[in-house]
Amino acid sequence: MITAAVEAIAISRKFGGRTVVDDVSLRLDKGEILGLLGHNGAGKSTLVKILATALPPSSGSARVAGFDVLSQPAQVRSRIGLAGQYASVDENLSGRDNLVLLARLCGASRREARDRAGELIETFALGEVAGRAARTYSGGTRRRLDLAASLVSSPAVLFLDEPSTGLDPVSRTALWDLIRRTAQQGTAVLLTTQYLEEAERLAGRIQLLSDGRTVACGTVDELKRRVGGSSVHVVLADPGTAAAAVAGLRRALGRDASTVPGGGGRLSVAVASAVDVAAVVRTLDGAGIGIADLSVAKPTLDDVYLSHVRPHHRGSTS
Ligand SMILES: Nc1ncnc2c1ncn2[C@@H]1O[C@H](COP(=O)(O)OP(=O)(O)OP(=O)(O)O)[C@@H](O)[C@H]1O
Ligand SMILES: [Mg+2]
Repeated sequence: MITAAVEAIAISRKFGGRTVVDDVSLRLDKGEILGLLGHNGAGKSTLVKILATALPPSSGSARVAGFDVLSQPAQVRSRIGLAGQYASVDENLSGRDNLVLLARLCGASRREARDRAGELIETFALGEVAGRAARTYSGGTRRRLDLAASLVSSPAVLFLDEPSTGLDPVSRTALWDLIRRTAQQGTAVLLTTQYLEEAERLAGRIQLLSDGRTVACGTVDELKRRVGGSSVHVVLADPGTAAAAVAGLRRALGRDASTVPGGGGRLSVAVASAVDVAAVVRTLDGAGIGIADLSVAKPTLDDVYLSHVRPHHRGSTS
């Protein structure tokens, strides 16, 4: 039998009577990257803390690296890495000293610790800065050090809580490569993010959280297909033609365009292909409806949300 790297069953967590993680189950296998996607306050970090034994669940159970998070927290902790909002890096130590210290804390001998630090410094291209205090690092370099620190113990499971927030595109891409390589070496990676693009680049599967509940699960392609591929955003030359435009598009595409109330003639409609984009233009043109602006956008996290979140939850944030 193959044991999952992470198996969580019906995890819930309340804070002062408010349920912030609600009956969430998930499974993650060796070498897999699972993207936990959701807006601010969706419950991502809380779930990660529960799986990393930093916070007990109110109910439910989870096994991480084969051990129970409630009854065997020490075994779990020695097999996981945690990076992101919980950086274990000491600002005043150099990058190298941080890595050596962490390796020593994991039980490595002086020599083993030095070797492990050297290996990570090389992998994460930290050679030039390794002798400097961590507080002097740029954001991107600091993230690479955080990630290196979380990998000192060669963890079976790596938790990354919004690893690329605040990074420029170049640093972000470099970090994504490192995360991918880590998974290829067999580490199971649970990654939280608010960015559909990040999940798309990294995660084989995505689990979408909203108000603490799982609202969708699947590959990025599956989720996008359910959203309908891309959307066309149109700004009408005359906002007064919005109703006629929606009716025309419904006839042509069999779908309702959404309008922004008071949005000055802005509407959006899901399109499955370039043929649909052409149909939008033809339909509006044919009806004599002027277009001031038109753009095609890939689905965003918002689109995916809106297509999955139960209607009475729409628009709720925390
Ligand atoms: N210790 C706490 N006490 C009370 N409420 C908390 C606590 N920790 C988290 N919460 C609440 O639980 C909800 C979920 O928080 P969580 O940090 O898990 O969300 P998140 O998905 O990680 O959000 P973000 O994208 O902003 O990091 C939020 O409404 C938050 O205010
Ligand atoms: Mg968070």
